Amino acid sequence: MPYGYEEWPKLSLESFKLGKELNIRSVKVGSIKYDFEPSSVVITGMGGSGIVGDIVRDSLLGSNIIVHKDFSIPKWVDSRSLVVAVSYSGETFETICSALDALRRGIPVVGVTTGGRLASELEGRGAPVVKVPKAIAPRFGLPNLLYAVLGVLSHYLSIPDINESISLQDDALRSESPGRLAYFMKDHVPMIFAPIGLQAVAYRFKNDLNENAKTPAVVAIVPEADHNDIVAVMLKHPVKYIIIRGRTDDVHDYLMRAVEEVVKNYSSDVEVVELKGSSRLSQEVYGSMLLGLVSIKLAELYGIDPVRTDPINTLKEKIRGINCPLN
Ligand code: PA5
Repeated sequence: MPYGYEEWPKLSLESFKLGKELNIRSVKVGSIKYDFEPSSVVITGMGGSGIVGDIVRDSLLGSNIIVHKDFSIPKWVDSRSLVVAVSYSGETFETICSALDALRRGIPVVGVTTGGRLASELEGRGAPVVKVPKAIAPRFGLPNLLYAVLGVLSHYLSIPDINESISLQDDALRSESPGRLAYFMKDHVPMIFAPIGLQAVAYRFKNDLNENAKTPAVVAIVPEADHNDIVAVMLKHPVKYIIIRGRTDDVHDYLMRAVEEVVKNYSSDVEVVELKGSSRLSQEVYGSMLLGLVSIKLAELYGIDPVRTDPINTLKEKIRGINCPLN
């Protein structure tokens, strides 16, 4: 299997250890202390790094996790919060700016990256950084970034058991559905329905379709989608419907079955993806891997290189060198 997917189980374990072994509580950056109980954790990062925040938020139900994808940290955040800045390359302008914004405001920041300017800016100020192994491209480094963040957060929060989420990765790798789903979706815009508690899987799938298969995709999160997206099924569009079904709670599980029934009343172009795993973390990691493989198969069907993301590079180049917009 190309693109390093077969390495995910090993990288997940290794990266978790990197975060867990960080001697974070003893760190001090001027008057900023890391030995505290954060009232909230703000996870900042973009694209393939930013999705880590979404997965952590869905998985750490009951903890106060805020996902923020911009050049600064929300105004209400203060030194009682912990900021985790995630950037695979360490060169993403939004993430560097938001990490510096937080430090400037006296908020503890930890970086998770392979290096780059994020690492040097943070380390230069004495802030902790977890350096994770490299991958083919940022989004292929998901296990490296995600499990390192979980390792860091294990110093502060109760973390779900990571073992099942790692062992199920083999099931996703061996699954035969990616090829079938890619054929099903080819030459159509996929509309992805998912319950709110597992929304990160739908967004990760959309992002992988955008970047790997150069394909637009629509995400419809239930219950909000029951009040808008669902109406689009009434007309015949060049759309294929993907319903992501997992286990969240009785009401949302029931609603997802109801959505499936309604969509199937209007269209026969529907595929259901059943997530494996008992925790939200396991389900999201399983879904991210399985559906990531779908995006690779789709790229193969289109005869395109999954790794190239030229427009992202162009846009990054355009904002290089401008000043961080201050909050
Ligand atoms: O997957 C990708 O290549 C992108 O979505 C990047 O993750 C995004 O541009 C942010 O870059 P980085 O992850 O290096 O911070």
